[in-house]
Parts: sequence; structure tokens; C-alpha cells
Amino acid sequence: MDKDKGMLIRGRFATRLADVMEAINASIDFDQRMASQDIDASIAHSNMLSEQGIITAADNDSIINGLKRVRAEIEDGVFKYSKDLEDIHMNVESRLHEIIGAPAGRLHTARSRNDQVATDFKLWVRDAHDRSEQLLVELMNALVERAAEYASTVMPGFTHLQSAQPITFGHHLMAYVEMFGRDLSRIRDSRRRMNQCPLGSAALAGTSFFINRQRTAELLKFDGPTRNSLDGVSDRDFAIEYLSAAALSMVHLSRLAEEIVLWMSPQFSFIKLSDAWTTGSSIMPQKRNPDAAELVRGKTGRVTGSLVGLLTLMKGLPLTFSKDMQEDKEQTFDAADTWEICLQAMIGMVGDMVAQQERMRAASSAGHATATDLADWLTRSVGMPFREAHHITGRLVRAADERGVGLEELPLEVMQGVDVRISVEVFDVLGVDNSVTSRLSTGGTAPVRVLEEVARWRDSLAK
Ligand code: ARG
Repeated sequence: MDKDKGMLIRGRFATRLADVMEAINASIDFDQRMASQDIDASIAHSNMLSEQGIITAADNDSIINGLKRVRAEIEDGVFKYSKDLEDIHMNVESRLHEIIGAPAGRLHTARSRNDQVATDFKLWVRDAHDRSEQLLVELMNALVERAAEYASTVMPGFTHLQSAQPITFGHHLMAYVEMFGRDLSRIRDSRRRMNQCPLGSAALAGTSFFINRQRTAELLKFDGPTRNSLDGVSDRDFAIEYLSAAALSMVHLSRLAEEIVLWMSPQFSFIKLSDAWTTGSSIMPQKRNPDAAELVRGKTGRVTGSLVGLLTLMKGLPLTFSKDMQEDKEQTFDAADTWEICLQAMIGMVGDMVAQQERMRAASSAGHATATDLADWLTRSVGMPFREAHHITGRLVRAADERGVGLEELPLEVMQGVDVRISVEVFDVLGVDNSVTSRLSTGGTAPVRVLEEVARWRDSLAK
């Protein structure tokens, strides 16, 4: 181990760290993912120190140029990370020292690693918000366009996974647009709330230097500085809110993934996915497996786990910084990677899938799916109370079952045998197309309503 490096902040210690202490303490293996944010925050801090006359303009120039070189080394993959230097903050600062010498020692004036890590991590999580916002919009656009295409494609709607009523495939896809729309609004809301800059909170109590926190906040595109230095260094709500939006969105993705798995199965055969999104079996040549959908479904647990992990990490932690908080990063990084690749996979599958419209239509009339339409007709046209209509319809369903036919195939005389008030007009509501086109209530499955929602979302997503 390079003793000089290890001693960077160990002036008061006589001996070096135990090896296991170094291993448990170091975060550089994962917090190097915040290198770019660390350099951005240091550049803003140094510029502010110089503007305030706390460091000279010459030292500032040298610091900024040095930091740019460090950034280039990192981007070129030639930067040598050192575990002795514990974390990204000290790795960057130590390399800056090697490059520019003495002025590097002035960069850490009026700040601490506590406000530094809070700022870097916040910047990273803010970037993650922006990436997932974009992916959510992309996924919603993909769903909206497929919904437009399939606005009048009839399929069975399910409750209890039993055929319930005919719906349109477009309507089904638009249900997911609503879910991802809520995810989008959650991520936008969280980003708004988190956008306050902790830099300048210093170790915990603020600093005696005459700094300008408004200025560093502005340089880093925050809306302003955090208002309490203790909270500034110990708040991780922004990561928890991000993870909770991610976890719920993964739950939504997993539901769509599960439906894709079901729809793909030969028993359903509602959709086809191309070779790009399926795999074969090593032993069964006929198989086409929806692995991507299964993985989206399966990866949901990781993100939920990260959310629970971070909530548990923060529970009961006294103010202000505790080293426990170093454990916030890996879970957040993993959740962000997972959510993003799942969103991308779903964008791909939604664009790729082709509805087997004939199959969907055939399945949609199975199980007397228009029984509710018949009961509604008896209520509306014959004027009987709905409860009575429900009962009569039940008897008609039984009559159809006894003959092994669908409701629409029951002869009129047989229907009239159950209730004389039934007229030939009843057949207008018994087909699946009639059923879906009649569901015109706001938010209903009728193709015109679906197309209205498509137009509304196209409009709002374009903004
Ligand atoms: N590596 C630390 C982290 O990730 C940085 C903050 C260290 N602060 C301290 N007082 N030891 O949280």
C-alpha cells in the first residue's frame, strides 16, 4: 500500500489502516460512478470561492484546469483509482494535487466530504430522474401509437383471469399509458422537490467562510441552496423518492411483462414477438420464449429490494452524517440500471409485438362475454330492474350452455321461452363489436373513446 496516499487525511493517526478496515471502508469501487458529478461540483465550488475572494483567481484557474485534466483521464479510462484513497472525492483531489501541486490544497476550503457526497449523489440521482423521465415518455409514446393502431381490435377483457367482457386491445394498452403517466408525474414531482443544493453545508454546521451558496446552487442548476445544514448533509429522501417511483414503475412494467408472457403462450396466441425479442430452447425446437418479458418481471424484485434497503438504512439514523449512509449508492445505482434497461426492453417489445387479431376476436366471444350487454339491453329496452335482468340473463346463459352455443346463436323462440318480452333487436347488442362500440362512457372501451384518449396523450406527451 502507498503509505503517503493512505495518510492524506490521517494526520493525527500514527499507523495505517488494517487491511479489512480498508476493505470495508473504501467506496471507490462503486462511487467512481459519480466522478463526473464530483468534478462538476468541485468546479462550481472553486469558482464560487474565487468570486468570493476566498482563493485567488490564479489558484482557481489552476484548479479548474487540473480538474478538467482529471476528467479527461477518467473519460479516457487512464485514471488510476486507488483504494487507499477510499472514495471518489479523495481520489480526484489527490490526483489534482499530483497535477497542479499546492493550489489543490485550497479546493477543500469551506466544504467537507459530507456536503460533497450529498451534492455529488444528488446530482447523480437528478441525472437518473432525467434519464427515466425520457424513457417513460418514449414508452408511453410507443404504447399510444400501438393503441391507435389497435383501437378497434376486439379482445377479451378479464377479471380473475376469466373472460369477463369484450374490450379493445387499444383500450388495454392505454391502461398502461395511465400507469406510466403516473410514474412520469411522480418522477417529475420528485425532481422538483429534490432540486436544492447541499453544497456549503460543510461537515454539518455550515462554515465560517463568507461563501455564496446561492451561487454554487445556480452553477449546478439547482433552484437554490438547502435551508438547514444538518438536513443538507443527512437527507437522502431524494434517493428514496426516486427508488419508490422506480419500484412502483417496475411493478407496472412487471404487470405488462406478465401479460406479454400470457399473450405469447400458444394457449392464448394473442400476440407475436419477433426473433429480436424471443429466444429458443436448447432442447425443444418448437419453442419461442419471451425471456425479455420474464426478466422484466423478475428484475422487479431488485428494485423493490433497493427501496426497502434504503428505507431500512436511513431508519433511526441520528443526525447528521453517519458512515452507514455510504451504503446508499450501490442499491440506487443498481435500481437505476435495472429500471432503465427494463424500460428500454419494454419500449422494444411494445414496438415489436403484433396482435393476432383473429385469435383475439375468437377468444373474446368465448364464455358468454356479452352477457352483461344482454342484461343491460333487458334493463334499457324492456324496462326491467337490473337485478331481474341479471337473473333472466343467467337463465339464457344456462340455455345456451345446454345447447353448446353462444348467446348470439340462441334462437329467438328459445329466448322468448325464457321471457316473452325479448324481441329480435336483442341481437344488436350480442356481437362483440356491438358490445365494445356501445361502451361509450368516459374512460370506456369504445374505439372512439380510445382514439380520444390517444389524441389527448399525444398532445400532452408532445409538450
Ligand atoms: N465515502 C463517503 C460516502 O460515500 C463520503 C463521505 C465521508 N464522510 C466522512 N465523514 N467520512 O458517504
